Amino acid sequence: MKILVTGGAGYIGSHTCVELLNNGFEVVVYDNLSNSKEEALTRVKKITGKDLIFVKGDVLDVKALDKLFNEHKFDCVINFAGLKAVGESVKKPLEYYHNNITGAINLLEVMKKYECYNFIFSSSATVYGDPEVVPVDENSKIGGTTNPYGTTKLFIEQILKDLHYAEPKFNIAILRYFNPIGAHPTGLIGEDPNGIPNNLAPYITQVMIGKREKLTIFGNDYETPDGTCIRDYIHVCDLAYGHVCALRKLLENPGLVIYNLGTGTGSSVFDVLHAFEKAYGKEIPYVIGNRRAGDIAVNFTKVDKALNEINFKAKYDINDMARDQWNWQAKNQNGYEN
Ligand code: NAD
Ligand code: UD1
Repeated sequence: MKILVTGGAGYIGSHTCVELLNNGFEVVVYDNLSNSKEEALTRVKKITGKDLIFVKGDVLDVKALDKLFNEHKFDCVINFAGLKAVGESVKKPLEYYHNNITGAINLLEVMKKYECYNFIFSSSATVYGDPEVVPVDENSKIGGTTNPYGTTKLFIEQILKDLHYAEPKFNIAILRYFNPIGAHPTGLIGEDPNGIPNNLAPYITQVMIGKREKLTIFGNDYETPDGTCIRDYIHVCDLAYGHVCALRKLLENPGLVIYNLGTGTGSSVFDVLHAFEKAYGKEIPYVIGNRRAGDIAVNFTKVDKALNEINFKAKYDINDMARDQWNWQAKNQNGYEN
């Protein structure tokens, strides 16, 4: 079975390629490398001992997509291609709406033309906004996103629902990721952010290698046990495997399905920091700063639906995530650069 993985050279995409190859799927990666390096795919091949096809291209390039589908008969498309920096999306909304939404529409149109009806979409816990009740589940209210990035996820989800209503042939899995961190246990692939990391885990590991002086914790006055925000961190390898579970489900023609992918456990910023300190064997310097605009106090998910319907259960905890992310960062201080 041949799977098109758009954005497959990126952080989650590269780990998903490993899981797909290890589970016997053929993989074609289509990525414009705007936020990734081809080296990640060389390492995917090294980890798995298997080959994949890489085509450099943009999901905004309709002609190139047509050529790609003309050359390959795909059984499913997993769409990771998208821009994901929250702060940047506030400054460049049109770029975000264009890249993420038009890119998804282009893919769906070419899929329809070539009669490929299985689609997996990378959505996000951000679609729940600031949830009234936690843990959330797939029926919790969505909306109230606080930035254009989050809103692209919300809009694409709606487009997918409308498409499925009009064209029931489409099988669509909307996967709402909680907070992916960690790296492949080999330390060969991991997250390689450009510039100053916006997210917690890569910022911490850059402090650990001395690239940043200290972590700033964005607020310790939330109504949580230690005053810092709580999230559902999930090991990127668990998350990647979740795509194999979703893919198997799509092959049963379920129509449109939605799954939250998390661990079901909420961890505070201090919990995460302590997990990294455990991996490091030393204390990590930090200061308490102001709250970050748009942050919500608590979000984590129920895991029952993913367990019952696609047999997905995360196996790693935050200590494993911290160990593996530290291993990746220690071995690749400049990411894929050297
Ligand atoms: P990433 O930036 O590492 O990967 C995205 C990949 O898409 C990159 O390789 C980039 O080069 C490629 N890309 C971007 N625009 C493209 C275009 N127009 N054409 C072709 N390729 C393009 O990000 P990631 O963390 O791996 O995230 C993958 C997906 O999951 C994204 O859609 C993201 O919004 C979503 N997501 C990520 C997180 C997270 O915390 N990392 C959480 C929820 C959802
Ligand atoms: C952020 C995005 C969200 C996106 C998600 C996954 C915002 C407002 N939200 O979510 O849309 O889907 O990433 O990529 O950016 N923290 C610090 N210091 C830091 C960095 C983070 O204290 O230097 C704290 C944050 O306040 C938060 C927690 O760590 O409480 C996790 O932050 P982060 O990794 O950015 O993830 P989210 O805020 O959940």
